[in-house]
Parts: sequence; structure tokens; C-alpha cells
Amino acid sequence: MVKVDRFINESIEKIREGVRGRTIIALSGGVDSSVCAVLAYRAIGDLLTPIYIDTGLMRKGETERIKKVFSDMNLCVIDAKKSFLGALRGLTDPEEKRMAVGEAFIRVFEEEARKIGARYLIQGTIYPDRIESEGGIKSHHNVGGLPSVIDFEGIVEPLADLYKDEVREVARVVGLPGEISERMPFPGPGLSIRIIGEVTEEKLDVVRVANAIVEEELVERFNPWQTFAALLEKGTGVKGDIRVHGWIIAVRAVESRDGMTAEAMELPWEVLRKIESRITGEIPNVSRVLYDLTPKPPATIEFE
Ligand code: XMP
Repeated sequence: MVKVDRFINESIEKIREGVRGRTIIALSGGVDSSVCAVLAYRAIGDLLTPIYIDTGLMRKGETERIKKVFSDMNLCVIDAKKSFLGALRGLTDPEEKRMAVGEAFIRVFEEEARKIGARYLIQGTIYPDRIESEGGIKSHHNVGGLPSVIDFEGIVEPLADLYKDEVREVARVVGLPGEISERMPFPGPGLSIRIIGEVTEEKLDVVRVANAIVEEELVERFNPWQTFAALLEKGTGVKGDIRVHGWIIAVRAVESRDGMTAEAMELPWEVLRKIESRITGEIPNVSRVLYDLTPKPPATIEFE
């Protein structure tokens, strides 16, 4: 605890030293950005404007949830669904998709920052984000994905040396609700990297509902490190005596310490069957559900 307390105090100092005047923070509602928002609020109070961007790539019900949880902060909610979908149009390469989302994020923030006269940005980048990006494994939207011209005087990343479990510890100590401190990680590029190939509104609608079903069935009962649905390609199936060409959904549930390595969870067959029957039953254009057994390495946790 002493170590955590010291970290909190030092971060608050670092934020105070690193920013001058009106500052914005990219609040996604995940544990990283939520902790950052609390630290930044303690450091600079009302000089902080937390901004939540509704990218259209978020999970079901997310925007309403964030509004509720952060209702007492001066939260600014931006509907940027069209910009993000436009930026992703025609892109099929995972890294290009990450870059496009990262760029759209920064552009929207720059625009908002300009409107409210903020010159500083606080980000929730954590240690694994940095080393994976530097090692060339992938460009996290909040590191390698930044466009080369950034219209901020300074960016402060208070969690840059922490692992995920350390961030959760800080979250508990600063008094964030368990709903946030224990929350599964969710990637910055959101559902866009849980869709193989081009992102479309139809695919987003399908993967969002499938993901909600997977979370409902697995999160509370099995407490996985991370679990979600991904949308692959189309495959043939039969629904009500008619052959259909429907989407294939992959279900992922993993155990991990920090996301660097992971093991697929050994789930009871009846649970997997229930997930399959709910997804194919509740989403008309899904014809097939798969469970991913692959550890990391050789697979990554996300599909892209
Ligand atoms: P992978 O798929 O690389 O994921 O095994 C490891 C952890 O990182 C998350 N992840 C991302 N987070 N931007 C993020 O902010 C990204 O581009 C990104 N890609 C993966 C993933 O959800 C997992 O927790």
C-alpha cells in the first residue's frame, strides 16, 4: 500500500508539473483511463475536461454506462461514429486499421481541445502497450498510432511504467468502483480489431450483440482475464430449412497475468453450447460459432 500511495502522490505531482492550464483526458471507461482521470482530477481539479468519444466501435450499452459512472465529473461526450467508420472504410490490414482509429481519435481530440482551449493531453498508456509497440509487435493506438503532427504542447502518461494488475491496485486505492477496477481490458481500437477485414456497420452490429452474449455468459461466472466475440468471414449454414451464407463468430476466453502471454480457458461444454445457441438463435445472420483454443503465443489475444 505504501508503494501504491507513493505512486499516487508522485503521479499527481508529475501531472501538475507536466501540464499548464486546461487539459483533456481521453476517457474510455476502461481501468487505465479511469485511473488517469481520477489522478488528473486530484492534480488539477476543474482544469481537467474528460472527453469520451463514442467511436461506434464500443461495446453494447457503453456510452450510457460511462455517462452514469462519471456523472459528477465535467464529462464531455462526443458522437464521432461517422468519422471513425469513414476513416476505416476500405481498410483490411490490422495495422492500417489501428493507425486509422488512432488518427481519428487524435483529430477529434484536437478539435475538442481547440474548442475548449486545452493545450495538454493526459493518456492512460501502460507499460505493455509501450514495449509491444517499441518491439514492433503492433502499434497500439495510443503509441505508434499517433499521427506525426500532434497539436498539443504536452502529453502526460502517468501509468507508462505500470502493468495491468498494478493499475487495478491503484484503481482500488483511489476508490474507483469494482465495476471499473476489475474490468477486463478492452482495446483502444475497440470492435474494429475484432472484425477480420473491412469494418462495416452490419459487422459491428453483429459482433456487438455476440460480444454482449459472451460477456453475459462468462464474465461473472468464470472471471476470465479477457473474453469476447470476434467476427470472421461468412460460412454456409441452414436456418429454418434454408441454406444461408451467415457470419462466423469466434469466441475467445483467456487467462493471463498481463496480456503478454495467455491460455485459452477450459470451459464446460454445456456453457459453450449455450453461447452457441444464444448467438445463432438471437442473431439472424450468424450461421456458425467457434471456440478459440489457441494460447498466446503463437496466437495473440485479439484476432487482428
Ligand atoms: P494481443 O492481441 O496483442 O493483446 O495479444 C494483448 C492485450 O492488448 C490489447 N490490445 C490492444 N489495446 N490497442 C489497445 O489499447 C490495441 O491496438 C490493442 N491490441 C490489443 C488486447 O485486448 C489484450 O488485452
